[in-house]
Amino acid sequence: MKNIYSNIFKFNNSTLKKAIKYLKKNDVLGIPTETVYGIAGNAYSKNSIKKIYNIKKRPKINPLIIHYYNFQSALKDIQINDNFLKLYKKFSPGPITYILKKKKNSKISSLATANLNTVAVRFPKHTVVSLLLKNINFPLAMPSANKSTEISPVDVNDVREEFNKKLKMIIDGGRSKIGVESTVVDLTGKVTILRPGFISDIQIGKVLKKKISISSKTKFIKSPGNLKRHYSPGIPIKLNQVLPVKNFAYITFGKKFKSSKDIFNLSYKSSLNEFARKLYKTFRKIKKLKYKKIYICKIPNKGIGIAINDRLTRAAK
Ligand code: TXA
Ligand code: MG
Repeated sequence: MKNIYSNIFKFNNSTLKKAIKYLKKNDVLGIPTETVYGIAGNAYSKNSIKKIYNIKKRPKINPLIIHYYNFQSALKDIQINDNFLKLYKKFSPGPITYILKKKKNSKISSLATANLNTVAVRFPKHTVVSLLLKNINFPLAMPSANKSTEISPVDVNDVREEFNKKLKMIIDGGRSKIGVESTVVDLTGKVTILRPGFISDIQIGKVLKKKISISSKTKFIKSPGNLKRHYSPGIPIKLNQVLPVKNFAYITFGKKFKSSKDIFNLSYKSSLNEFARKLYKTFRKIKKLKYKKIYICKIPNKGIGIAINDRLTRAAK
């Protein structure tokens, strides 16, 4: 069935060809990934990068993640090291982004890396973006497809909501399986998680055989432009709430509260992965229902729970 919006495309061969044509002309497109949807442009083209920053209203000090098909294709731009190789082997393609030193003769637009000598690289797993990357000879700079500080999109309709007709093409790759942004891990010095995600400190620590630190909130902001207030539905949020409050939205999980008018139970089986997958969509739903306040239950701070708490704390700012 054709989508009612003319810039939303089902994925097939002709869409792939069209997308490649647009990207080569330095257009920016809405693209699905396994974490969240992104807005993608040619990372070697200053023009594309400018478009991304403008459309998102993103501060120029906040660098973008550069996406590649595989590490061989990234070699001309990044300086690799042992930790990278070990983590790449285990987790890529997948929901993890590595901060590495940029090669001096790299063609990545300096606008995309906010003039830093480091670069964030990711190798996404979703078939649509993977196939796209395989068929072009430049990497894709791709932040989440939301206006700066707002909620990341997890399907085509979310992207459409954010940018309307501003994108020539949004490719439908279904609902993002993970639902929160990739883990960002700094490998340029002492291994540090700058943004928690689906792949946890424990999993990374197991591979590297050491304890991995997660950058504290204030230090996190040092990761340029990692704004304190982010992922925000634009409604006051109160965390660690044990009970629902009448007429306000309550987000919870587990067996205690069934979903009903004001209650949004994101996982009856208490799966935090399921909670993460549904969180942003629920924020959007609650916003549309015009609730004045969101109460959220306590989330255990381990595994993906760390990522959920990170996003919730920022959303509550
Ligand atoms: O899952 C994801 O990573 C999604 C999908 C679309 O791939 N992308 C995404 O991009 O979340 P974005 O732009 O919303 O977040 C990128 C994060 C920002 O917090 C940025 O500050 C950080 O990565 N970052 C990028 N380059 C960096 C660098 N050289 N050093 C430190 N942090 C960096
Ligand atoms: Mg983002």
